[in-house]
Amino acid sequence: MRMVDLIRKKRYGKQLLKEEIDFIIKGFTNGEIPDYQMSSLAMAIVLNGMSEEETTNLTMAMVDSGEILAYPDIKGVRVDKHSTGGVGDKTTLIVTPLVAAMGVPVAKMSGRGLGHTGGTVDKLESIPGFRIDLTPEQFVRQVNQSKIALTGQTGNLVPADKKFYALRDVTGTVESIPLIASSIMSKKIASGSDAIVLDVKVGSGAFMKDLNSARELAEIMVHIGNNLGRRTIAVLSNMEQPLGFEVGNANEIKEVVEILRGKAVADLKELSLTIASHMVVAGGRCGNFAEAYQAVKEALESGKALDKFREFVKAQGGDPAIIDDLGILPQAKHHLEVRATRAGYVQSIDAEQVGVSAMMLGAGRQRKEDSIDYAAGITLHKKVGDQVVVGEIVFTMHTNRESWEDAEGLLKQSFTISEHPVEGIPVILDVVG
Ligand code: URA
Repeated sequence: MRMVDLIRKKRYGKQLLKEEIDFIIKGFTNGEIPDYQMSSLAMAIVLNGMSEEETTNLTMAMVDSGEILAYPDIKGVRVDKHSTGGVGDKTTLIVTPLVAAMGVPVAKMSGRGLGHTGGTVDKLESIPGFRIDLTPEQFVRQVNQSKIALTGQTGNLVPADKKFYALRDVTGTVESIPLIASSIMSKKIASGSDAIVLDVKVGSGAFMKDLNSARELAEIMVHIGNNLGRRTIAVLSNMEQPLGFEVGNANEIKEVVEILRGKAVADLKELSLTIASHMVVAGGRCGNFAEAYQAVKEALESGKALDKFREFVKAQGGDPAIIDDLGILPQAKHHLEVRATRAGYVQSIDAEQVGVSAMMLGAGRQRKEDSIDYAAGITLHKKVGDQVVVGEIVFTMHTNRESWEDAEGLLKQSFTISEHPVEGIPVILDVVG
């Protein structure tokens, strides 16, 4: 087999066979297939797509490139959750204590993130003392005792994806439904979960800008998961504006605690309850969604989920006092306001632009080696549909940097105001699976 023939085959829009895909992934992972051939193939896939069978075979070839984790000692159905990524998305940190409080084991593996704000691990590490370097034995023991533990990604999980994603990132080939689907699903399958709930984001702040492509991505991932024996369901959720009111690392932890204490943040709460309910059904704790939703809401409103979050933070070395005193979290030196210059109703808030502004203030990384400022971020005071008067605060920027004009300029452009009333945006758009 020659790679050049397989590139041509895909260029002509033909289907690659399982043994051809295995050859490509093996050769690329061990360095026999060079980056220039792999990026040429990636572009042919971007342009000509892949069938469901090809995408499933690509997923399995990537899974087989590394270690496959299994946790035979974890008791119960292990349900994982994945978000395709959005601005202000701290749902994992609300959903996991909720689900654990319902008795479903959460053995979560998360990463530090590139991009606007850190990943789930960065957010948690803004809690003084929080550690993610659990040994496999500690991880399993904690899941069995507390039903919740979180660790960083292990070294050799899906090495093919690590290499391929880095290549796609610099060759303009990230935006492809089969490539995104196989990248995400290979990591979920290799990390050993029994069932998977996916949060597929749609809108200006997401990979998928429109509902049709998001639905297509969701459907293929659900099929792959189910074909590979993992019960999979996808929630399509809105990312036309940031989720909740806080963007940043310590900032987002603060909002997580506030929600768990009972604060009504409509979009974030609704999305968290919905995802947690699907996880509880997939974990076999409730027979249907409606029953699960009631039970999960009860776990939130009774404070059980907050207690579980406290137990989780303490078990991983974090200071649980932050839950009663959010002032212990890292605080920025400067807090600067962006105000409305006209009156009306907020018509749109570009999530992507808010995310980039947060990164400019220090909340995210552009390169792996960049350090992150846990205290940096943005507070939104308005959401789409809210009324605003001239001079009212729309955003507060938090930063330790001495210059913030670029972020401020971008934030000023990020929202529009209409003189007519505007409907709020629903957060749940559809469910697939
Ligand atoms: N997230 C991933 O893990 N992979 C992709 O290809 C896109 C988003």
